[in-house]
Order: sequence, then C-alpha cells, then structure tokens
Amino acid sequence: MDAQPLAVGIIGCGNVGRILAEKQNTFRITAAYDCVPGCALDFSARFGAKPLTEFAELLAEPVEIVVEAASVSAVREYAIDVLRSGKDLIILSVGALADETFRIELLGEARRLNRKIHVPSGAIMGLDNIRIGQVSSVDTILLRTTKNPLSLGIGEPETKCVFSGTASECVQRYPKNTNVAVSLSLACGCDASVEVWSDPGETKNMHEIIFSGEFGEAYIRIRNNPSSGNGATSRLAALSALSILENLKNPLVIGA
Ligand SMILES: NC(=O)c1ccc[n+]([C@@H]2O[C@H](COP(=O)([O-])OP(=O)(O)OC[C@H]3O[C@@H](n4cnc5c(N)ncnc54)[C@H](O)[C@@H]3O)[C@@H](O)[C@H]2O)c1
Repeated sequence: MDAQPLAVGIIGCGNVGRILAEKQNTFRITAAYDCVPGCALDFSARFGAKPLTEFAELLAEPVEIVVEAASVSAVREYAIDVLRSGKDLIILSVGALADETFRIELLGEARRLNRKIHVPSGAIMGLDNIRIGQVSSVDTILLRTTKNPLSLGIGEPETKCVFSGTASECVQRYPKNTNVAVSLSLACGCDASVEVWSDPGETKNMHEIIFSGEFGEAYIRIRNNPSSGNGATSRLAALSALSILENLKNPLVIGA
C-alpha cells in the first residue's frame, strides 16, 4: 500500500459523511463541502477536514476521489464537474442515475476522461455478483422492500404491498426506495422488479433480493440497522462506501 493516505473530498457533511470520517483509516477526508455552511464548519471542527462553503473550491483541492453523500440534486449539479477536475467519484444518491439522459452524459464524460464512478452496494448486499446479469441470462430479479409504515410515511395498519412494478416506475411513484432499486438495476443490467411492503410489525428496513438465471437461484435478505444520525439511512449504506474507500489502494481486489 502507498505510504501516503488517499486524500478524499466529500460533498455532504451529514450522517454518511460523519460515519466515513469517524471510521477513516487508510484514507483521509481532507476537504468537506456542504450547501449548509454550518454543517461543513462543524464537520471540519470535529474531523479536521478543510471546510468549503463553495462547491467550486472542492474542484481545486488536491483530492483523488470525491464522495457524494448529499442528495440526488447534488449528483446532477456537481458530478460532471468533479470528473472534469480529474477526480474519481463515489455516488451514494444513486437515484440520480435513473435519469437515462443524465446517466449517459455522465458515463460518457467518465469514459472520455478515463475516470471511475463507484456505486457502493448501499443498503443492500450482493451487487458484486448480481453483475453477472450483464454477462449471462436472467430469469428473475426482484427487490422486495419491507418497512414500518412510519418509515414509508403512511398510516397503514395492516401488512400490505403498497407498490409493485419496475424500478423505473418505482423512481416515479416511490422515490424513497429509489437508491436501492436503481443500484440493483444498474448492477444487473436490466430494469429490476420491485415490491414495497408496509408492515407495522417490522422495526427495521428489510430488503429481499430474489435472483435467478443461467447461474441458478439466489435469495438474499438484509435487515438493516438504522444509522444514529438519520433513521432513514441504513448504517450499511455508509459502511459500504467506507469499504470501497478502504480498499481502493489494496492490491487484492475481492468480489468487485
Ligand atoms: N445507495 C444507498 O443505498 C443509500 C442508502 C442510504 C442513503 N443514501 C443516500 O445518501 C445520501 C446521504 O445520506 P445521509 O443520511 O448522509 O443524509 P443527511 O441528510 O444526513 O446528510 C446530507 C447532507 O448533504 C447536504 N446536502 C444536500 N444536498 C446538497 C447539495 N446539493 N449540495 C451540498 N450539500 C448538500 C445536506 O445539507 C446534509 O448536510 C442521501 O441522498 C441518501 O438518499 C443512499
């Protein structure tokens, strides 16, 4: 491994940003931008990163990679400029890539500039091998998400399927479930089927993935602990970005 820690910039000093900073080991978050200046300043006071109150300042910072941990609108606004400034990018707000026109433009720029865009597994597991959908036939790829009605923002007293359709329809009708559905579709190379269930007895956000095709059959179930700073964000989402950063300089690449 390099003696120098990997220098990382961050957009979004909220819950995911804080977890990454608390757990940084082989990398250093050296620059932090947030559209709420107080968030960047607090983050800086706590973790020592340079606080940036203008996005343009981040482009001039000597960081190798930028983590977007902010919002779908932040991806749309900043991602292409990050690549053009010669930095790679990790995107948490993957829902932004549901817009095909934007996705094609972004990936075209990444290709032209020879830059990488990393999409962490986020709140699910298994995206590494679900990529086999891009190289072999797929019979079924279904994401079934079950949440407490309070997490879904509805007052449903019974266990009930509140959405059934494709990932791209889910983006329109159930945006709260977008990141995971879009990640799964991108990994598999096809529009995944999605069900969203409301269950008053479920205390965690649960995702089940049912996948079958040329390889055989798989079933993955994840019951996520919430992160302490933002109950809507599973702790796993931050940890999955952390594991990408910790492994970027590792010569042994496992399962990616
Ligand atoms: N891929 C996944 O599976 C997955 C899972 C959980 C969360 N996420 C996404 O990760 C992102 C971060 O989650 P979080 O829990 O840290 O959120 P958070 O609300 O705790 O923090 C987000 C921070 O980003 C800042 N921000 C928002 N829009 C911005 C913009 N346009 N420019 C600059 N700063 C901006 C906010 O001020 C806030 O400080 C969210 O978009 C969330 O949807 C993805």
